[in-house]
Amino acid sequence: MSSNDHLIIFDTTLRDGEQSPGASMTTEEKLHIAKCLERMNVDVIEAGFPIASPGDFESVKAVATAVKDSTVCGLARALDRDIDRAGEALKPANSSRIHTFIATSPIHMQHKLRMQPDAVIEQAVAAVKRARGFTDNVEFSPEDAGRSEFDFLCRIIEQVINAGATTINIPDTVGYNLPHQFGSLVGRLIENIPNSDKAIFSVHCHNDLGLAVANSLSAVLQGARQVECTINGLGERAGNASLEEIVMTVQTRQDVFTCNSRLDTTQIVPASRLVSSITGFPVQPNKAIVGANAFAHESGIHQDGVLKARETYEIMRAEDVGWSANRIVLGKHSGRNAFRSRLEALDVSFRSESELNSAFTAFKDLADKKHEIFDEDLFALVSGEDANSEEKFKLLSLSVCSRTGETPNAEIVLSLDGKEFTAASNGGGPVDAAFKAIEVIAKSEAVLQLYSVNSITSGTDAQGEVTVRLEQDAVIVNGSGADVDIVIASAKAYLNALNRLSDAAQRAHPQLSQV
Ligand code: KIV
Ligand code: ZN
Repeated sequence: MSSNDHLIIFDTTLRDGEQSPGASMTTEEKLHIAKCLERMNVDVIEAGFPIASPGDFESVKAVATAVKDSTVCGLARALDRDIDRAGEALKPANSSRIHTFIATSPIHMQHKLRMQPDAVIEQAVAAVKRARGFTDNVEFSPEDAGRSEFDFLCRIIEQVINAGATTINIPDTVGYNLPHQFGSLVGRLIENIPNSDKAIFSVHCHNDLGLAVANSLSAVLQGARQVECTINGLGERAGNASLEEIVMTVQTRQDVFTCNSRLDTTQIVPASRLVSSITGFPVQPNKAIVGANAFAHESGIHQDGVLKARETYEIMRAEDVGWSANRIVLGKHSGRNAFRSRLEALDVSFRSESELNSAFTAFKDLADKKHEIFDEDLFALVSGEDANSEEKFKLLSLSVCSRTGETPNAEIVLSLDGKEFTAASNGGGPVDAAFKAIEVIAKSEAVLQLYSVNSITSGTDAQGEVTVRLEQDAVIVNGSGADVDIVIASAKAYLNALNRLSDAAQRAHPQLSQV
């Protein structure tokens, strides 16, 4: 593959993705995701924003130490202290990149930076030169390029390339552009900047109008050779371009694109599940590529067509993106070895025999309530709190009484730091009563920002997967829980969120702790 045929995939799940409300991750969780991205052959992993907090610095350093086959990147504003911090965090990397940025749109320069355009250019050039002191792989982004003046973009980009930038990333920071506009912007920049052949042009699109993927692909058609994206389209506000949609569109439409990524696409679904379970952001069932319905054919006409010739209604093969053909996996009579080997096949490993034992006990409990256990059930099981015995809050039992015409009541027994507590409360509904009973013990005063329930598989015995978003002292976390009883799933999700709040120091939101 020549360099012009290669579409570089730059994943920013650990940096921009983490800027989604509640998506903050611990270093250990980031490492887990980074290893998964490396397995997928992602070219560049943006591991974080080292100056943002000591936790972010440590995470970037840990990823730089653990990842060998992908380039590890750290974000830095165009400031000496940011760049030095990024350079320091990236020291252990086999291959490192510093990504430095400064805003270039009139609205940002005037109101946010309060700087004149010439001073912005000067600062950008100085930042790129300083970054080159740490690595010869330097990316520059003119933030809010999508609303910047074309001539000014040409001037600043020409000068940062002369200063040593090797990748020029064009962000549509606020998701304002339309596909034909954004593609043409990137094409014209490449055509008009005299030294554009000395750098790779990249795009970074936000999804405020639902156009992040379309805008990115339009730019690829005009010569961009790097796309910045995230697993499941996670990211600030409405998110970033979704990695799976970019990669599969380019791969599926090789009749149109003259480049392709080098990704192992069979890792896409496992990566999507991992990110969803770590961040607590569920994947909507109709999400392209990774949604539960992405390859499900409901209508009889479609089913008939697919059975006769798959291509009638399918443009991709489910197994090419990592959906396993064998979906009904285990049942009540399956043993420990079958359980362990199915999870190994799904790339889930256990840190200790006791972790395996507690997951197996939870599996047996579930198999008593549910006839067929699907891969999705297993994922929910091992990502749930049952698998982790070190948590502050653990659900021991819950009893709920809900009858027509009567006020629902919940009685809960929790273990808090190893001690048992019991509480009861009424509520507007059974879930409300359960949350209030938990709060009698936890006294967190956290504000509930989001509550959602999804069915993990089909059928009335399916597990419900609940997501709860809590805010406490400006820290936002997502908790998730699954159970065949959705009130129990809700209580588990609430406790999972409380556990995440209790290690909030490790999850400081990068934007809140930014210097
Ligand atoms: O959206 C944006 O502009 C960014 C930059 C830091 C590239 O995330
Ligand atoms: Zn962004």
